[in-house]
Amino acid sequence: MLKPIKLENKNFLSSFDLSKKEVKHILELSKNFKKNFLNIELKNKALGLIFDKASTRTRVSFQVAMSRLGGTTVDLNPKTSQIGRGEPIKDTARVLSRYCDVIAIRTFNQSDLEEYAKWSTKPIINGLTDLEHPCQALADFLTIKEEFNDFENVVLTYIGDGNNVANSLIACGALLGVEVRISCPKGYEPNASIINKARDIYKNKNLLKITNDPMSAASGANVLYTDVWSSMGEEGKKEEKDKHFDGFTIDSDLLNKAHKDAIVLHCLPAYRSKEITDEVIESKNSRIFEQAENRMHVQQALLACLLT
Ligand code: CP
Ligand code: NVA
Repeated sequence: MLKPIKLENKNFLSSFDLSKKEVKHILELSKNFKKNFLNIELKNKALGLIFDKASTRTRVSFQVAMSRLGGTTVDLNPKTSQIGRGEPIKDTARVLSRYCDVIAIRTFNQSDLEEYAKWSTKPIINGLTDLEHPCQALADFLTIKEEFNDFENVVLTYIGDGNNVANSLIACGALLGVEVRISCPKGYEPNASIINKARDIYKNKNLLKITNDPMSAASGANVLYTDVWSSMGEEGKKEEKDKHFDGFTIDSDLLNKAHKDAIVLHCLPAYRSKEITDEVIESKNSRIFEQAENRMHVQQALLACLLT
């Protein structure tokens, strides 16, 4: 029976916290969890959840993942706990790590997540920050692996805002050696330091391409991926931002440019008719709901490894 391996890093704050071998192991473990092949128990273990931003998938998939492993979850609402009153992170982190065995956090600044990790004696998981969404990327690559078996010759094209989801796709794609094309309007490119780190991992292979032309990026791609144009925290910029994304909607014209067996992914929630059309979400190419389901399986695998 496949067993969880102990991860090199205590925390999962960024996709770059895992090695290639660890990502592959987590994906393999996830597949086994999905088939109910594993009997791994995290009995009496507690997962703390701190969500400073809204969530459906991440929150519920972590809760159910932990319950499937026999553990328990404590969902801390920042508004009704002392977190919302401004208790310092260094105090909250030290207290919670005496009750919980692992803590998943969704917040704005990556530096706040790092502050939690600095003071917590237990693993901290990034449940989304403005910079990264690494749990999402694991589910995305599991969905791609299920479709194509392997990552060799897979071209993943992300069209839209160079946001947290794009950043984690780039990082995880680099670890797995997948060709990643990002197409975004000028000025909305992904994080420069993540691009540089990814390019270092790819070495001299030119497998990370950033372009402002969605049609050329989509051409022959095996996976078309998009996310909202304005992320949580950018509500005030929405109208202004939308003006720059003309031509960046994944519609049937863009889908027709991709490989005939291309799949379409979206981390959800989606704004239908903005970044993606209703027709494409509901098309035979869409694997969006499998992708959402996979959040739970990869998080089961991640929890099992972090608590081994
Ligand atoms: N994809 C994702 O993280 O969804 P939620 O915001 O619903 O958690
Ligand atoms: N980029 C989006 C992802 C939501 C899951 C956001 O940060 O709001």
